[in-house]
Amino acid sequence: MAVTNGNANGTVNGHGPSNGATVPEVNPPIDIGIALRPCDSDAVPEILKNISSFGKSPSLDNDNARLGLLAKARDLVRALETPRETMIKHCWAQPGCYTAITSCYNLGVFSVLANDGGSSKRVTEIASTLKTNPEVLAMGYIKETGVDEYAPTNFTKSLTIPIIGDGYPCLAGGAHESCSKFPEYMAKNNYATPTDVAAGPYQYAFNTTMNMFEYMQTHQPLGTQFNHHMGGYSQGRPSWMDAGFYPIEERLIGAVGGSDDTATLVDVGGSLGHDIAKFNKKYPNAPGRLILQDLPVVINAIQELDPKIKRMTHDFLTEQPVKGARAYYMHSVLHDWPDHVCTNILKQLAGAMKPGFSKILINENIIPDRDADWQATALDMMMITLFSSKERTKSDWYRLLEAPEVGLKIVGIWSVDNGVESLIECELK
Ligand SMILES: C[S@@+](CC[C@H](N)C(=O)[O-])C[C@H]1O[C@@H](n2cnc3c(N)ncnc32)[C@H](O)[C@@H]1O
Repeated sequence: MAVTNGNANGTVNGHGPSNGATVPEVNPPIDIGIALRPCDSDAVPEILKNISSFGKSPSLDNDNARLGLLAKARDLVRALETPRETMIKHCWAQPGCYTAITSCYNLGVFSVLANDGGSSKRVTEIASTLKTNPEVLAMGYIKETGVDEYAPTNFTKSLTIPIIGDGYPCLAGGAHESCSKFPEYMAKNNYATPTDVAAGPYQYAFNTTMNMFEYMQTHQPLGTQFNHHMGGYSQGRPSWMDAGFYPIEERLIGAVGGSDDTATLVDVGGSLGHDIAKFNKKYPNAPGRLILQDLPVVINAIQELDPKIKRMTHDFLTEQPVKGARAYYMHSVLHDWPDHVCTNILKQLAGAMKPGFSKILINENIIPDRDADWQATALDMMMITLFSSKERTKSDWYRLLEAPEVGLKIVGIWSVDNGVESLIECELK
């Protein structure tokens, strides 16, 4: 029997690619038995050996050890699950879990659970506090402490912090429709790589010509929630501002004089200012000025920021108004755009740079050729579905940044472990 987009008769039933293409037949066909046995039994002994090498009580304060153990634990789950179980996890458990968490988050279930030090609460008590009658869905994320009685975990307590919790409603309301419609969009467009920022998968799914930022900011509270989500994304991960990552004194602030009016750091597309505030906190005596730029709707939403940091509304697709800064910094900005838009953003910066003095600092993922971290590959999928863009490899970055029309050269790349964003430093050619 041919495996087609549709039913056993080979007719397309509307659930497969809508371009009418037939999925190629597998020869010889795969037997169902394979789907009911562990995905990779052969790998299990080696993974267990690896896990046991961490010892009986590994030091979880050492982040590298923790992440190494976590990666092995994930390998073990992947190897032990049957393909059928993995399929059910992807198709039911993950979207179901996401949906349940988002609904409970919107309702305030996690805030109520975290009250009074996270004491156990009966469902009836939670429902009466919320003046509703929720069915609480537990998938291991809240503790079942009795019949119809629950207590929060550290995960659900953390969801009450907006920079952790707000990602759920924001992506549920302003992003995931694009993931659901992505297969349909790709089939309609013959699987061409999306690069159109006004007519890509996002615009198809949301029936708009706006990009995701515009859509979310005009559909509040999605925009505010997205700004919070950005604040949470890089929390607790190594940063280029940490000691031993990038030589800040030598390569950034050392060249700016004490009484200098020079802009030392311009955070372009810096959201509510979490990065530049961190820089200010780590280097309170850095000379020169600190400037935060973003769209008006974002800058005007800032509630708290050290007055030393100048807030500036600016569209980075237009001429950069701050001339001759020591560094123009962009974190998670270029990955939101396909190459032709990035070229425009970079040209606006290059036009403002002072030769021999100004730099561009780009804080982004550099996807390795093998064994990319799951967070970076997940982000890559988000970039293509939401922005017609992508995460970039080292050669992608060289091709983009050193393109003749951009006029930049990469003078150094600072990286730590896989999965942590690198810092790419550029100067004028
Ligand atoms: C993915 S977020 C990254 C924010 C911040 N740099 C960070 O790392 O958390 C991209 C940022 O670009 C801003 N942005 C989008 N389009 C812009 C434009 N045309 N001009 C200036 N900023 C823009 C968004 O408002 C958002 O804050």
